[in-house]
Formats: sequence, structure tokens, C-alpha cells
Amino acid sequence: MNPVKVLVISSIDEACKKEIIDVSPRIHLVDATHIWDARHILTRDESGAYSRELDLLLADAEVIYGRRPPPNMVSRAPKLKWFQTFLAGVDHFLDEELIRSPIKITNMGGLHTCVAETTLSMILMLSKGAPFCFENKRKKKWVRYDPLSVEGSTVGIVGLGKIGKIVARLCKAFGMKVFATRRSAKAGDTARYVDKIFPMSNLEVLLSKGDFILSVLPSTPDTDKMFGEKEFRRMKKSAFFINMGRGNAVDEEALIRALSEGWIAGAGLDAYEKEPLPPESGLWDLPNVILFPHVSGKMKNYERLINRIFCENLERYLHGKRLKNLVNKKKGY
Ligand SMILES: NC(=O)c1ccc[n+]([C@@H]2O[C@H](COP(=O)([O-])OP(=O)(O)OC[C@H]3O[C@@H](n4cnc5c(N)ncnc54)[C@H](OP(=O)(O)O)[C@@H]3O)[C@@H](O)[C@H]2O)c1
Repeated sequence: MNPVKVLVISSIDEACKKEIIDVSPRIHLVDATHIWDARHILTRDESGAYSRELDLLLADAEVIYGRRPPPNMVSRAPKLKWFQTFLAGVDHFLDEELIRSPIKITNMGGLHTCVAETTLSMILMLSKGAPFCFENKRKKKWVRYDPLSVEGSTVGIVGLGKIGKIVARLCKAFGMKVFATRRSAKAGDTARYVDKIFPMSNLEVLLSKGDFILSVLPSTPDTDKMFGEKEFRRMKKSAFFINMGRGNAVDEEALIRALSEGWIAGAGLDAYEKEPLPPESGLWDLPNVILFPHVSGKMKNYERLINRIFCENLERYLHGKRLKNLVNKKKGY
């Protein structure tokens, strides 16, 4: 049996490396992170000697495992069959060359219950007036008010994928009504924990019905600025907008106007047009917004969890089985 060269390009600990090697005696693991570490892409010099050394390792790799591919991976790794990213989204690196190549891409989708948990915490914090309380705590002010109850309210999920489905289940546990849509949605579609699925052509109807509108969309040309002035104006004045997907889906200028002019009641954000959110962004000073620094997908032990998924996929790869979490490169997610 031929050895399979697995090139690791983002640092992982020794236990993770051992787990990969233990998958099969055929695995020949090469750690390239002393040359180039895709976790710390900006701290490494991808030129001169580093580049030549990396070229040699790439030339032989059949499988690459890391956060994002090195530049020009397709031409530099002619034997490459499969790239496994540490991430859920592939928008940062999916270029034309990679789309056209036969290289399979798999992501870490399905691991992100934590994003759904953050969504629920946003729903609860916004409805319970947490931003108001945090502000008053800072000022040592005792102001009583009427928090909202989420029971009986409606969430509208835009992007009913792996994360959206977990959100739907959690919202049901709080007695909420769940409406949703996704790219492929057709009238009459059904899904567990979802009361009604709307085709995308009826997005505006869904927006007008939600007390919480959640975007959990990937970044693709089709999702670009899906939420703009028209969409925010369709939402209820009392509704909250939550973005857990990608920042490209939101026209931030329109969102800032929606929030400051009262078209909607508030927002909870974990993804932005530009990250880190620039200091001059109008979002920082809005009292009705909760800002998370794109951390909802992070968790302790992440490395161990993704390594388990990679090893399971590696086993499938060695046995010629279909890989889990295959990215549809044409769709971009
Ligand atoms: N904030 C974070 O830290 C964090 C962490 C993990 C992931 N994310 C983001 O969340 C996204 C979703 O993750 P996931 O695991 O749930 O992905 P997923 O299972 O691939 O689901 C994506 C969903 O978006 C829908 N969609 C795609 N393009 C669309 C369009 N143009 N119009 C309407 N719906 C569209 C898809 O519709 P179909 O089902 O019809 O294809 C699918 O339901 C990821 O792509 C990533 O960008 C963020």
C-alpha cells in the first residue's frame, strides 16, 4: 500500500499529530509549521528560503491540513488530492484556480453548536435588555424596566444550514415560533423544529414576521449585501437583527442607519464587513447593539475536536469513501 503524505500547515499539538499518525501505518505526516504556519500567516516570511523549503514539501503532499492554504497551492502542490481546513467558512481562500482544480476541500461544518449557543445568548440578551443593564452598571444607575419574554416570539432564520438547524431546535425549547429560508427552499418544504419554510423569493415576508432575524449565511457572491436598506425597512420596528454568518451579507452602513434611526430595535453581531471592526465604525457607539469579536465559533479544545473530524475523514479517504463536510466549490460553501 502506498504511503499517503499528509502535510500539516497550521500548528497542532503532539497529541493531535499522534492521533493522525495512528489512523494508519500508511500515513506519513510532515509538519511544515516551522517554515510556514497558516495560523500566524502574517508573522512568517513567505519568500526566499522559506518559500523554496515549503515548495519542496508541497510538491509531495497528497493531503494538506491547516487553517487556510498557502498561496498558489494548486500549482505548488501537483499531487494534492484533498485540503482539509480548520474552518467552517472557505470564502477567505476559495479562488478560481482552486474551484477549477480537482482538489477536494472539506471544512469543519457541523462542529459549531457554539455558534448556535451564541445566537441564543444574543436573543436572550437583546430581549432582556442586557446592553441597557451593562451601561447602567457602568454608570452605577438603578433603572427598572420591562424586559421582553421570548416565549411566543418568532425567529426568522436566513440560511437554514447546519448552524441554523441547531438554532431552530434551541429556539423551540424556548417556546418560540421558527420561520426559515435557505437557498434551495421551495414553498411547502418542511424541516424539524421549523414551523414554516419560505422560498428565498419570499424573504421579505419572512423579514416582516420575525421578532428576531438571524443571518447565518456563508460569504458568496449571492449573499453579498443581502441585508440592506430595503430588508431592514421590511423588519418590524421592534425586531432585532443577529448576524452569525459572514459580514459580507450585511450592508453595514444601512444597518447603522436602521439602528440609529429606529427602523429596528437592536442587533447582535459576531461578523462584520471589515474585521477587526475599525475604530471609526459607527457600530461601536450604538447603545442597542451587542458586538462580539467573531468568537462565536471558537471554543476551548477546538483543536482536539477538529482533529477528531480530520482523522475520521482521513480514515474515509484511505478507504475510498466519500469525505464528510465536502465543500461544494461552485456554490462556495
Ligand atoms: N461567527 C462564527 O464564528 C462562525 C462560525 C462558523 C460558521 N460561520 C459562518 O456560518 C456559515 C454557515 O455555517 P453552516 O455550518 O450552517 O453552513 P451550511 O450548513 O453550509 O449552511 C449554509 C446555509 O446557507 C444557505 N445559503 C447559502 N447561500 C444562500 C443564499 N444565496 N441565499 C439563501 N441561503 C443561502 C444554504 O442553503 P442550502 O441549504 O439551500 O444550500 C445553507 O442552508 C458558514 O459559511 C460560516 O461563514 C460563522
